[in-house]
Formats: sequence, structure tokens, C-alpha cells
Amino acid sequence: MGEVETLEGVAVARIDAAEDLAALEALRVEYLGKQGSISGLLKTLGGMSPEERQTEGPKIHALREVVQAALAARKDGLEGAALEARLAAETLDLSLPAPDAPKGSVHPVSQVMDELAEIFADMGFAVATGPEIEDDWYNFTALNMPESHPARAMHDTFYFPDTAPQGGRMLLRTHTSPVQVRTMMAEGTPLRIIAPGRVYRSDSDATHTPMFHQVEGLVIDKDIHLGHLKWTLETFLKAFFERDDIVLRLRPSYFPFTEPSVEVDVGFAIENGPDGKGRRVLGGSGDEPGHGWMELLGSGMVNRKVIEMSGLDPDQWQGFAFGVGVDRLAMLKYGMDDLRAFFDGDVRWLKHYGFSAFDQPTLSGGVGARA
Ligand code: PHE
Repeated sequence: MGEVETLEGVAVARIDAAEDLAALEALRVEYLGKQGSISGLLKTLGGMSPEERQTEGPKIHALREVVQAALAARKDGLEGAALEARLAAETLDLSLPAPDAPKGSVHPVSQVMDELAEIFADMGFAVATGPEIEDDWYNFTALNMPESHPARAMHDTFYFPDTAPQGGRMLLRTHTSPVQVRTMMAEGTPLRIIAPGRVYRSDSDATHTPMFHQVEGLVIDKDIHLGHLKWTLETFLKAFFERDDIVLRLRPSYFPFTEPSVEVDVGFAIENGPDGKGRRVLGGSGDEPGHGWMELLGSGMVNRKVIEMSGLDPDQWQGFAFGVGVDRLAMLKYGMDDLRAFFDGDVRWLKHYGFSAFDQPTLSGGVGARA
């Protein structure tokens, strides 16, 4: 029975001549696959006499091993050749220049908002938000500005033609103060939040744009008084401007939603800039010679009526609130003088004033590290 020997000779020759891995796989299936010829031979063992099986069995098994070994050897050879070919074809030019630095930058307004969140988080404040398309009940009425209140006219409001669910009109919020009411209603007491976001007023010049940014602060608890407000603002401004000599002056003022209301001024000095022109630098008391006061923000103790309209008992809960322009904070800290440029989307301005995405403000690392 020379069948096994013939088969072996032919199989090994064909395997050695296989041109690629696909051809080799086809041969493997042809010989060793379920329907393969060697598998077929193995099946014939069952029909043989014991004597026959004793002589044929080892031959067929040996054949299978030889073919398996030939397949493995050819596979190694083909793979080795394929790798050699790839190594010869692929080149890596280590003299190529490094890729460009990532494009784009973090807008100063976003950066300042991140700084605010970081500083206030350290004092236990969470970040709250509210809608920019607002119901006039939240924007005015609940803040103690009923329909005919003259303070409504002070905000040059953008109204929508739509009627609000509460009966008034829908509008673009003119300040972040409606978030006070929304948060009191949604979360109850006690509260310590800041609410940064966009606000809208029909106004436009070098220091006013129809859209700008505010951050609202609100603390509601028991036995809160103006001293807490002053300490909070002082601690915030010292951390924000990274100077210990920030001096505040509280002046009586009026807002319908706070009582008493205080306007907060910050002391500045006039220093000569690199261009020889005098510029305002925050720090020190505004009463010293060569110093002055700059109006920075509005604040006060939350009016009982607002607490009541937000569904809380004003005999039990008091608090303070403040509102400050985020764009103005950015201008003061980073030295831009035209607010309109903030929203032009000019890449040169963004490149100059923008921040690296890796420059995450942290209290330990500095909330104002420049890229
Ligand atoms: N909402 C006021 C404004 O936009 C600022 C403010 C907020 C005043 C909170 C007092 C308390 O001018």
C-alpha cells in the first residue's frame, strides 16, 4: 500500500510551494480539514481488521504529523517573509518636525467662570443654573418687581411675543437673579450657591454688549448677616485677584430684591504702565492719596418678600445675595479694555487672551496661572 507514501510526497511538495498564507490555508483544509483526505484516511481505520489497523494506523498518524509539521514550517517561512517585506517597505522618518501645538484656546470668560467655581467650591458653594429664556415672573415679579415697578424699566429687556405660563411675557433674562428664586424653590434650605451665566440687555458700547455674563451668589441659612456677606466677598476677591491687600467699601444702595442693599467698591491705585500711561491696579484703600474706589458689584440681604415668594418662611430663613459681571472681572484681572472684542471671535484676540486647555484653575496651583 504505497498510497500513504505518495500522498505524503505530493502534500509536502505542494505545501513547500504554497505562495502565500491563503494558499497554505487552502492546503490545510484540503488535507486536514473535516472533509480532508488525511482525515478521510483516519476514518478508514474503523473498518479495518485489527492486524491491518496495527500496520496502517501508525503510518496514517505519521503522515498527519508530517503534513502538520510541513504546514507549520511553511507558515513560519511565509510570515517571516511578510514581516521582512513590511520592514523593507515601511519607513519612519524621525527627522519630521513635531506636529503643531493643539489649536484653539479657552476663552477668558470660561476661564474666569472656572476660577469662580473653584474659589467658591472651597467655601462650600455649589454651582446652580437657570434658563436664559425666562418667564417674567422669575426675572421680575418674584424678585419684588411687580408689573408696574419702575425698576423693570431700568433693565432694557428683550421680550418675546409669547405669553409666559404665569401670565406675563417670556424674555431673555436681564440678570442671573432669577436663579435665586428657582434654586430656593427647587432645593429648599440651607443654600450656598453661585449661578454663573449669560444675561441680556439692549445696550451696546465699549463696556456694554447686548449679551454679557454675570455670576450670582446666594446664601440662605439661619442667622446670616451682612458681616458674612462682606467676609465672603473679601475672601473671594483676594483669592480671585491673588492679592491680600484687596480693600472693600460697602455703600448703601437700592435693589428691589435685597433689603438692605449694598454696592461694593474695591480700592485701586494708579500705577504707570509699561507704555507710561497711568492704569488702575486693584489693592489698597481707595482713601489713600493717589488711590480711588471702583464700583464692582451689587448685593444685599435677600428681601423677605423674595424669600416668601420662593416658598420659604422669612422669619426662619435669611441670607445674602450678590451679582457681579464676569466679563468685568476678566477685564480687571487680565487687562482687556474693550468688552466688544470678547464676542468678536477674532482668532488673534483669542490667541492673545485665551488660556491653554491644560491650565485648569486650582487653589493650590493658582487660579490665575497664564498659559
Ligand atoms: N441682579 C443685580 C443686577 O443685575 C445684581 C444684584 C444681585 C444685586 C443680587 C443684589 C443682589 O444689577
